[in-house]
Amino acid sequence: MTSEFEELQELIMVDMRKTYTEVTIDHALNPRNLGDMEDADGFGKVTGPCGDTMEIWLKIKNAILAEATFLTDGCGTSISAGSMLTELARGKSISEALKITQQDVLDALGGLPQESVHCALLAANTLREALKDYLALKEEPWKKAYRKH
Ligand code: FES
Repeated sequence: MTSEFEELQELIMVDMRKTYTEVTIDHALNPRNLGDMEDADGFGKVTGPCGDTMEIWLKIKNAILAEATFLTDGCGTSISAGSMLTELARGKSISEALKITQQDVLDALGGLPQESVHCALLAANTLREALKDYLALKEEPWKKAYRKH
């Protein structure tokens, strides 16, 4: 016997499936790589035109993105995008990671509704900021001591 709450949950899921792919829903409900990181090698923080912010932390080992984590105060789709983007980024070289685009995130999620495609752009732009931060710190490592993250 199912409770009214379970029935309501199922109705919400049926509704979500009309708009979002299973992959997108899965990453929104079970985000991968969620959270901040101590002593990150690269950090990016971007606020999109919608007013939502994403932060990404990177741990680089032997010029490979060993770890990538994210946080966002944005919509459910931004959680899916950050989760998928960090999955795509992990294990990539710096130059490969710099080539990850909004479209790559959209493709991996199986697409997003038009009104949500900018959430994938926010994720891709935040990764680029974190990589730029890593590359800048490589040039001037002393700056790390003055960084808040
Ligand atoms: Fe702002 Fe999705 S609506 S990131």
